[in-house]
Amino acid sequence: MIEPPTRSRVGREDVLLRFDVSEDSPGVLGLVEGIPFFDLTQQHAGLGGELDAALSRVVRSGRCILGPEVSSFETEFAGFVGSRHAVGVGSGTDALVLSLRACGLEEGARVVTSPFTFAATASAIVQAGFVPVFADIDPASLCLDPAKVEEIPDFEAILPVHLFGETADLPALQRIARARGALVIEDAAQACGSRRGAKRAGSEGVAGCFSFFPTKNLGGAGDGGMVVTDDAEVARKLRGLRSHGASERFRHEVLGGTHRLDELQAAVLRVKLPHLERWLARRRDIARAYTSGLSGCGLRVPSWNEQRSWNQYCVRLEDRDALRAHLLERGIQCDVYYPRPLHLQPCFAPWGGGEGAFPVAEEASRTILALPIYPEMPQKHVHRVLEGIHSFMNLRSRRNPCWEFPNSPAS
Ligand SMILES: Cc1ncc(COP(=O)(O)O)c(C=O)c1O
Repeated sequence: MIEPPTRSRVGREDVLLRFDVSEDSPGVLGLVEGIPFFDLTQQHAGLGGELDAALSRVVRSGRCILGPEVSSFETEFAGFVGSRHAVGVGSGTDALVLSLRACGLEEGARVVTSPFTFAATASAIVQAGFVPVFADIDPASLCLDPAKVEEIPDFEAILPVHLFGETADLPALQRIARARGALVIEDAAQACGSRRGAKRAGSEGVAGCFSFFPTKNLGGAGDGGMVVTDDAEVARKLRGLRSHGASERFRHEVLGGTHRLDELQAAVLRVKLPHLERWLARRRDIARAYTSGLSGCGLRVPSWNEQRSWNQYCVRLEDRDALRAHLLERGIQCDVYYPRPLHLQPCFAPWGGGEGAFPVAEEASRTILALPIYPEMPQKHVHRVLEGIHSFMNLRSRRNPCWEFPNSPAS
């Protein structure tokens, strides 16, 4: 019988976990370092001086709202994504709501989206005054399945999600949208830096929406978001909507709100953006190690995509909850994105369709498990995750050990 692990903090990153070793859990050490699912402290420590300087520059300047940091970051981010305009907003949710409102959709417009995403995607459609229409996902990419979108008789927009950094099939979705006279707005919250050929995620639709929530590929020190677009008129409307619909001081053309990216977050994000490519490369290396270490092991790994930004690395297997418990016993934190698809969430019941409506999304919710992945993750932790999964799969099969773990590297 394994006792729940006890935690003790020893220094900054030495979270140690004590276990009762038993015959049921061969290979479990008496005392092991805990493996966090995500850890921003190392990234911030590495940037310490630069971050401090940026923050104090803003505080000392007295320019706290829509000043030079936001406008410079907008220019830099537009350049990174390859779009003409970028408009900084308060969060990824703001980016979605405001771009839906800025793109000229008529009241009551139907917007097709995925049921397998964070709640913000569909919630933004309702908040913007439109109607979410769910279509099932593709079983390999877990993004919106164009064949399912094709089956929907009428809609005015498609809001695909580039889930976990994988890009949705934009060429197929754009083709369907063009044939129906519909718009495409991209939810690229989880895909900052992903590419399809020469194009970055977010740059192909009429608008691309990004989140700078701290766990994202480019994460701030708080909330933040961005909309990119090539359409000058959409950009103009977005700038109004983020500041109470004002076209000039105290002239309010439309109802807007306080939805601005603030100067402090922009300053933090400007420090981080030049490091993003390096961080994406490290995420890709970890993903590659997971994929090569787990193939042939009896669980489903994501199909390999060199251009994906790997915001999450998710495996799938029927015994998901048992694997998660097994890893947790070894101090390895994992997470489930998403345990319940949106069409089965109480708040989306009016648009949901009930159990069985989107079987691929439902199956993904039952079987998916996200493994730790972040740029500063030590290689020895990557190996411990692989060891943990292999010990589970071997215990389960008992017949055919799928993998002998080589000596762990030192760091
Ligand atoms: C796919 C997706 N869309 C939208 C959002 C909303 O972003 P934010 O939390 O910055 O509002 C998130 C955030 O997790 C997300 O994952």
